[in-house]
Parts: sequence; structure tokens; C-alpha cells
Amino acid sequence: MLDLELIINNETFLVPVYPGESLYKVLRRLGFSSVKFGDEHGKTGSDTVLFDGKPINSYMMLAAQAEGHKIETLELMGEHPHLGWKDSRGLHILQQEFVKTGAIQCGYCTPAQILAAKELISRENEPSEEQVRDAISGVLCRCTGYKKPVEAVLRAAARLRGEEVPPIEDPIQVPPEWINSPTIDSIPPFKTVQTANTTLTAEKVISKLKVTTKPESWRQVGKPKEKVDAVKLVQGKPAFTADFERRDMLFAKVLFSPHAHARIKSIKVDKALAIPGVIAVLTHKDLPRVAYSTAGQSDPIPGPLDCFSLDNKVRFVGDRVAFVAAESEELAEKALNFIEVEYELLDAILDTRESMKPKAPIIHDEKDYVNFADSDPKKNLAAEIRIDIGDLEQGFKEADHIFEAEYEVPKVQQAHIEPHAVVTYWDEDDRLVIRTSTQVPFHVRRMIAPILDLPIKRIRVIKPRVGGGFGGKQEMLIEDVAAHLTIATGKPVQYVYNREEEFIASRSRHPMRIRLKTGVKKDGTMTANEMYALSDTGANGAHALTVTGNTGHKAMALYVGDGPYRESPNIRFYADIVYTNTPPSGAYRGYGVPQGYWPLERHMEKIASKLELDPLEFRLKNALRVGEIHPFSVAWSEGRDPVPEMIQTNGLEECVLKGKDVIGWDQKINNEDWKNVPGKPYLKKGVGVALVMQGTAIPYLDMGGASLKLNDDGSFNLLIGATDLGTGSDTVLAQMAAEILGVDLDDMIVYSSDTDFTPFDKGAYASSTTYISGAAVVDAANKVADRMKDRAAIMLAEKLDGKEYDPFEIELSNCCAIAPDGQAVSIEEIALHSLHHADQEQIMAVGSFMSPVSPPPFAAQFAEVTVDIKTGQVVVDHLVMAIDAGVIVNPVTAEGQVEGGMTQALGYAVSEEMIYDELGRAREKNFRDYHIFEAHEMPRLDTVFIETFEPSHPFGVKAVAEIPMDGVAPAVGNAVFNACGANIDQNPVTPERIWSALREN
Ligand code: FES
Repeated sequence: MLDLELIINNETFLVPVYPGESLYKVLRRLGFSSVKFGDEHGKTGSDTVLFDGKPINSYMMLAAQAEGHKIETLELMGEHPHLGWKDSRGLHILQQEFVKTGAIQCGYCTPAQILAAKELISRENEPSEEQVRDAISGVLCRCTGYKKPVEAVLRAAARLRGEEVPPIEDPIQVPPEWINSPTIDSIPPFKTVQTANTTLTAEKVISKLKVTTKPESWRQVGKPKEKVDAVKLVQGKPAFTADFERRDMLFAKVLFSPHAHARIKSIKVDKALAIPGVIAVLTHKDLPRVAYSTAGQSDPIPGPLDCFSLDNKVRFVGDRVAFVAAESEELAEKALNFIEVEYELLDAILDTRESMKPKAPIIHDEKDYVNFADSDPKKNLAAEIRIDIGDLEQGFKEADHIFEAEYEVPKVQQAHIEPHAVVTYWDEDDRLVIRTSTQVPFHVRRMIAPILDLPIKRIRVIKPRVGGGFGGKQEMLIEDVAAHLTIATGKPVQYVYNREEEFIASRSRHPMRIRLKTGVKKDGTMTANEMYALSDTGANGAHALTVTGNTGHKAMALYVGDGPYRESPNIRFYADIVYTNTPPSGAYRGYGVPQGYWPLERHMEKIASKLELDPLEFRLKNALRVGEIHPFSVAWSEGRDPVPEMIQTNGLEECVLKGKDVIGWDQKINNEDWKNVPGKPYLKKGVGVALVMQGTAIPYLDMGGASLKLNDDGSFNLLIGATDLGTGSDTVLAQMAAEILGVDLDDMIVYSSDTDFTPFDKGAYASSTTYISGAAVVDAANKVADRMKDRAAIMLAEKLDGKEYDPFEIELSNCCAIAPDGQAVSIEEIALHSLHHADQEQIMAVGSFMSPVSPPPFAAQFAEVTVDIKTGQVVVDHLVMAIDAGVIVNPVTAEGQVEGGMTQALGYAVSEEMIYDELGRAREKNFRDYHIFEAHEMPRLDTVFIETFEPSHPFGVKAVAEIPMDGVAPAVGNAVFNACGANIDQNPVTPERIWSALREN
């Protein structure tokens, strides 16, 4: 080791450094937690520090090169504005504006973005938007869409110049009459529907949980509040899993298979174990053989159990072969090279069309494979779906035109900037603690117990801050690696994926081949709609049934047909979900639905064009409406008994109207002058649209819990099992509680989630947190509010000589309990009274919620593009999403969700796809080859909220999280068609595909 003198944040550190050690590693070792690992190639930029005032990637620089230079990290910039008796310099203006504008979602990229912005502002006091985008373009953000970070920097620069900045505005507003959907009262109390076998009844669902105030008087819900976790994130505090330190920590690495399909004939680990500092090497011979699914879902897992922590067979390039624990990551990495494995190579299947052929190799030939419903490993079939609604053949007979086509959607990556990360250790009671970046802490605890041969009660799962998940962390992916190694060594173990491992060994979106057949009358009435999906689950069947089921359940439900077809639509959705020797597919934001909308909305566009129908009128004519039955609710429910659901809110028409307005649809769609770019005849402009719907949670299954406790000063601890991945759920749940309890948001101390301390929650997926966990919070808050009102009535009587007060008439507002005559006691007084003065009790409550319905959010997604017809290059200029997600609890965080979702979906539209070679090796293993959008490449993004009041929820909410993924790709595909006539059936719409389509036309 060499001793270096490093100047970090104006302090000199004498540090022993290994030869070849990066500056990043040394900074982390010294405790500078704001410097984050994102990748090993300097593409994410989350490892950014200022080096003599200039942003550099600390992972890419040797520590030795930094000697004598000035290193600056985010820790230097600012601190919490209130630090007790000590004067605080407070947050830097840049940090303040990142908090105010909602520029932080998961916050993993935030320290690097702020440092890059600081450098810009130091040399340019009046930067343009373009300069800001350039400055932060070296820092990838997968959550925000960059709009709010750019706004934060521009506002901070203005303030630093001494200028006033306007208050943060709500997103584009809609007329107030649309809030509280006028159609709710007109919905019948129930509706019957005839299926092939029986008559089913759907009931109108009105929430039994009541909120204590009226929407007009809400002070927290519906307001653009700052995130409750923003201040720690804007300082780069050690909030994430890999920031956790423990004495004697070991570091894990996994040996991955270089072969797509092979049996392990022999494996020797002696040489690896002989390396000083290598503490354990585990192979399949060392571990109990327990079949499980990695899918983080409720019990029972709706899929086959076809994984083993380690197996004697590998099924994809990137499958696990052995685990190593060593005193450093470098030693663990070195040990991998000394593990000797002899493989017997087997034929591999890399194309779904080969999987079910009679003589195809069997990928899961193990005897202990556990079937689920229709999985059949002998046919390489992880699941099959056969859903028939109405009489499809009759529907086709009644059509004047039949349209058939085939489409293809690719495998794509969640690409959260924080990789998968876990730390495990035995606590002082010999209980295993698993600190993990997960969306599903309670599922992890339940699922990992049998794999480790530990009872659930001896496992504690803690979810710290999560740096983005998008479904990728709805998987129990690496927790078992670290846990096995902790059991083997007795020591704490940390395992963090590097970026290549994220690409080859995590989960991704199911690629599918999809056939559509649609019957349409001359007037545009759809009479029958049929979809067949051949879905690639890769080497394991986690989420196989449920993801692909959603493809039909959400996409094929949107268009039911008009007239009599509304009462009795004819829809078929069949799917085969097959194994291949590629990395397993899994959950990814949208959960199968984007795969359905690419073909469906391209197909609708082609039909409208062929029949010369207005594309928007044609869609709306056939789309599902309020008061109608969700067609799939009578036919399918993720393998459980379906229960019919009525659509109670649907703002789709208003979404179309408002979205059209914002994108300028009527002025552009058929305007040849607008489509042609003066002086550039090779450029063609176009606009496109896609209508979409999602769901909100899984009915009769998803459950969330919350507990609330009143403290001495009138503040509350809100403990939730729900998992904030950067979505802002901690904030919106606190807003709901604060609204009911009549306090400010900063009176809520939110903690999520820890299986020992927080109530159960099924986790963050299925767009459920605001709706399900939110209603659980309402339940708990109502109970606490009732107790406080009872006590307030007693206190007022004590104060006013026995005057009687009815607790039901007392309102909680402005941190007080206020009687109708204006007499009041403060919530702090109630707290002191209840804890210290009389009839002492702890005012607290637990609430939980499960929903019988999954009210769909609806949206109209618009895109404007410019296509270079010489090269096929497409530039997306503008995306507009008008969305009915019910009442919006926090317009700023919700808008950020939509912007980030549209940006991810933009990659799905034009650039992202994962390809494998003939040996099953991934082409994309880093962010150089797998391009995600950077700040300077973004189109204009606009979000419009069309607020309806969903009566099944006490605050009228539906989901926002996933629907922004659904419509961008087909809207862009349709805009390309409008621009230049290129009909693309396979996304992303790459230059090659556009160029080829133009030549074919
Ligand atoms: S907020 Fe930027 S990566 Fe999550």
C-alpha cells in the first residue's frame, strides 16, 4: 500500500491506498457516501466529484492521480438548516431548489447532478436551458426525465443572481368541473353480465373509509408538497443499502456461467479458497436444494418453482455457478478465476419459436421442478393463458373487414441507477438481518426462509432508501447469495451487482411476438378482437403467467366495440409463455402492458388509416366507458377466481381533448405545410397518439398496512410497510395522514420499511401504493383522529366548566381540535394530556386495506416526431400525456412520475433493446451499448392531469406509476407513420427499421 495525501473538501487526509485503487473506492472508504456506484465505465456519472473544480468520474480515476489536487464532494455544500443549538449554514441554494422543484425521485443521481450544476454555475451565472442540460448530461437519471432537475438549476442560478423566482406551480390545470366526475351518481348500483357459464354481478364500490374534510378544504392532499425524504437525499446522506457499514464485512462475488445451457460435470474450489483473504466459496454441493421462484409476489406464488440458489445445471449465460466471500471485492473477483469448472454443453434454445417444437431440448428437466397450474416443463412451457370473452367467431362473421398483423416487442432493462445491493448479518440475538434494496421486503422474508432453512421469525428484512426499482427489485435476486455466505462464514456480507451483472444476471421485460386479428364494421364499430402472444420468459418462469396475463388484461380490455358490443364484447387473448436459454424475464414497470399496447395501438392506427376514419374518433367510439364492466374482470384474475368490476371513473375523452390541445393535434395531423420543414425536404414531421389504460392494484389480493403513533409534541410516527422506490409514496401517504389529522406534513415522521417494526405491506408493485397503502393510512389516521377528538371533547369540557361537546362535531385543523363554537385545544395539548395528565394512554392505531376492485387509470399519449427519410433517423420533439389517475395527491411528485415514465418509455420507443448472439451471449452489457436518454437528448415533456374522483378510495385516487410506460412507443410509431408513411411493426423504431420500411413502401 502507498500513503497518499488527499485534499478532500478542504481537509487533508493521509490515506493508505492499494496500487490501482480508484479514487471512488478511497472516497467511499473515508465515508463520503454522496459518491455513488452506478457502473464501471463512467457512463452513469453517479460517482461524480469535482476535481480542481471540474466534474470527473471518480470510479475511472486512480486515487494516486488525485494527490495534490482539490477534491470536492456534495458533503461540502450544505447541511440541514436546523441542527439544534449549533448554527447551521443550511442547504446550498442548489440543494434547496432540488428539494422545492421535485427534482429528486430516488435521489441516487442527485449528488452528482448537483455537483455538475455547481460547476456550471461557477463559470456561467446566467446559464441557458441548453447549457444546463449539457452540464448534467454526464449524469444519467432513470427516474425524472430531467425536466425538474433542469428547472431546479435554472431557478438556483436565478436566485444566486439575486432574482426572485416564482412559486412552484401545479402542472397544467384542467377546468374544476372535471374534478369530482359528474358521472359517479349516474352509475347503477350493480350490473349483471352473462358469461358462457353463468350470470355474474358487478357492484358499485364506494369506499367505507371516510375522510374527515371536504376536497375544497384540503390543505395537504392535492398540494405540491416537498418530499419528506428530500433533505437527506439532497445532502447525499448514507441512506442506501451499500452505504451501510459493519465491522469485518465480507464482500461477495458470483461466478456466472459462460454457457447458455450446460451441466456442471465437476467443480473445484481449492485454489480459490487458498487465496489469502478469501473466506468462503460455495457451490451447489454445499447448499440445501430448495426449489423456489424469484418473483416477489403474494402467497401462493402464481408461477412454477424452478430456481435453486445454486444448481448442477446452468440455463443461460449469466446463470450462477458459485458464490465467493472475501475480505475485499478485488479478492473475491480474483477468486472467481481460480474456480475450476468442467461443463457438459447442451443444446440451447434462443428463439421462442423453437421452444415448443417436439424435439426441443428440455430446459427444466430437474425432478424437483414444481408446477403451477398450466406450466409444463416437458414442453418448455412456463405458463399458458386461454381467455375467451363473448363469441369471437360470431364477432368476426359480423365484421365488414378483418385486419390481421404480427408485431414484435423487445427485451429491455429497468436500468435503475442504483444496482441491486444487499447486506446480511447475524444480530446479537442470532437473527439474520437482511438489509436490501428491494420493492418487496415482506415477500423476501417469507420467500427466503425455506431457502435458508430458517424460520421467518428469525429473519428481519430492512428496506433502506431504494435507488430506483421499476420492477427489477420486485425479485428476490441476490438476497440469498449474501445470506448463504453469512450463514457459511458467520460474518456480515455485502453484495452489490456491477453494471455488467445487471445486464446479464438480473431480470428484464418479457420480449413477445404478438398476432392481432380484428373485426370492424364499415362505420368503425369493432366486432371482435383477438390477440395471441408468444412470450419469452427466459430460463426461469418468475412472473411468467402474471406479466403476460396483464398484456391481455389491460391492453385488450380497452376496446370493447360500440353499440351492442359494449354489453357483450368479443375478445380472445391466448398466450404461451415459454422457456429459452436467455436471462430470465420478470417484472418491469407496466408489467406486460407496454407489450400489449405497441401492437394494439399500431393496429388501431392502421385500421383507422385503411378505413379513412379519424384515428381519435375511431378509438373513442370503441373504448370502454363509465358504468361498463371491465371485460377481463369476468374472465381472468391472475389464476384466481375472477370477480366482475364496473368502471366507475373514466376521463379518457377529456384526456383526448386536453392532450390534443397541448400538442396542437388539429393544426398538425393533416397539415402538409407543417409536416414539411422549409429548406430540408428530407425531414418530415408527424404526430401520433395512443390511448391506454392500466390497473390500480390487484383486487382481493394486495394488502397494505400502516400504523400511526402520537408523540408528546403533537407529531406522529407513521410506520408503513409500503416501499418508496423514489416514487414519492412516503410523501403522499404522509400527506393523507396529515390531512386527516389536521397537521403539517413536517409533523409526520415517516419510516418505511422494516419487517420487524412496520406493518405488513405487499410491497411496491402493480401501481398500488397510493391506493392500497394510502387507504391503510386513512384507516389508521381515522382511528387516531377519533381518539383525539374524544379526548379533545373531555379537555374542552374540563376547560369550560363541564360544557358538553360532541366529538363527532370536532374538526382537526391547523394542528388543533376545534369545536363548532370555535373553542379549541392544540394537538400538542392533546398529546401531553393523553401521555402525562389524565387517563393516560398511547393514542395510536393500525390500519389496513384490501380492495375488491382495481380501478383503471386512463390516458391519452401524444407524440410529435421529425423523421429524416434519407437515413431513417427519428427525433422525438414533444411528448404529451393527459392522464386520468383520479385525484392527484401531490401534483409535483405525480408529474415527476409521469415525466420519468415517459422518458423510460421513450427508450422503449426508439433506442432500447437487448440482443443475444448465437451462443446466447448478451450484446448489451453496459450503458455504452444500451443507450438510455441523457438530459441533452430529451424532447419537451408535458403532463396534464384530468382529475376524476374514484369513489372506491377515500381520497378518490387511482394509480399513476405504471401507465406512463404504456403509450409512448405506439404514439411514436404512429407519429412516424403520420410523418413519412413508414409502418413499423417492431419497436424500437430504429433508423434501420424506418429506412427499411420506407424502401418497402
Ligand atoms: S432520481 Fe435520478 S436516478 Fe433516481
